[in-house]
Amino acid sequence: MRTVAVVGTGLIGTSAALALTRRGLHVHLEDADPDAARTAASLGAGTTETPDGPVDLAIIAVPPALVGKVLADCQRRGLARWYTDVASVKSGPRAEVTALGCDTVHYIGSHPMAGRERSGPLAARADLFEGRPWVLTPTPDTDTETLNAALELVALCGAMPIVMDAAAHDRAVALVSHAPQLFSSLVAARLEHADETAVRLSGQGVRDVTRIAASNPAMWVDILSANAGVVADILEELAADLGDTVTALRALQTADEGERRSGAAGIEAVMRRGNAGQARIPGKHGAPPTRYETVAVVLGDQPGELGRLFGEVGALGVNIEDVAIEHSSGQQVGFVQLSVAPAAVKRLTVALREHGWSVRD
Ligand SMILES: NC(=O)c1ccc[n+]([C@@H]2O[C@H](COP(=O)([O-])OP(=O)(O)OC[C@H]3O[C@@H](n4cnc5c(N)ncnc54)[C@H](O)[C@@H]3O)[C@@H](O)[C@H]2O)c1
Repeated sequence: MRTVAVVGTGLIGTSAALALTRRGLHVHLEDADPDAARTAASLGAGTTETPDGPVDLAIIAVPPALVGKVLADCQRRGLARWYTDVASVKSGPRAEVTALGCDTVHYIGSHPMAGRERSGPLAARADLFEGRPWVLTPTPDTDTETLNAALELVALCGAMPIVMDAAAHDRAVALVSHAPQLFSSLVAARLEHADETAVRLSGQGVRDVTRIAASNPAMWVDILSANAGVVADILEELAADLGDTVTALRALQTADEGERRSGAAGIEAVMRRGNAGQARIPGKHGAPPTRYETVAVVLGDQPGELGRLFGEVGALGVNIEDVAIEHSSGQQVGFVQLSVAPAAVKRLTVALREHGWSVRD
């Protein structure tokens, strides 16, 4: 594959274009908004010139509802030998592609499982897809060359291909992305009119749960419109669980000992089911989840502190598996939570304390 056209030079299109340009491919950029294509080109993502003849692969990176229409138009123009789209939902665009009578032999749906809260070419990054899953949804129509072109695209972007059926993909993303997005937004919405004093108490828990509530509403209306039924099914199940949880909490407030016990059992059951679900989320590099333990170190908010800490941990021969920083509101300190192998916790804690670090118990 040598030449590519990216149609829709927003976050995803420009990120793919940047990755491909860096790998030496010739990338042509188009967008309904000429400024977006020009901006992508100015970032080094390719050229806004029209290709002389058909390119090898066209990547359609427009909102899900427009994939069918844009694909039909590109195929009418003979833009490429093979086509793919990157929409976050697959069944709706697929149905539209079929309804519009597009060539489905040389088209394959795809979805890179990477993104950001921001959209547009300026948010793009060449390494956005590095190490991320990239789902491909071939159908019996898809020919092998088309699948191979998509596999090459995924490899060039440093991602990992996962072949799935479109409907299974949509159920999966509803569970791991779309429903969590709505829950994050709903939790964050409780803060909209909360007292300033209450909001100032925000700790790491609420920050973690609401991080994706900063997402672009218009983009999510598009995504959820294309997967509304499946997401509604999951939210209905969640609503039933919420109802049970409210009942359990109310039972905890009663004077009756038996009811209080049943309330506590209900809450414990929710927490245990949550533990079990959370433990299934793949760990680093997609490996099976590993139980790391956390060593929390208090750090002054000043230049060089993190580097000094990481240097000391490295010198002790301990691998930092993950890191999270919790900021203290109102004080110039933070808590750095280092995830390390359980066997390293004691040694690391003792050694860091000996070197003057404040390690929390
Ligand atoms: N943002 C994410 O996190 C994410 C992740 C994976 C996949 N996706 C999918 O990638 C696609 C693009 O999303 P994005 O985040 O890059 O959005 P974006 O808003 O950053 O970019 C979309 C671009 O498409 C252009 N466009 C709209 N209609 C067009 C048309 N008819 N012809 C040509 N260009 C057109 C817009 O002008 C815009 O520049 C969507 O289908 C989305 O579902 C998004």
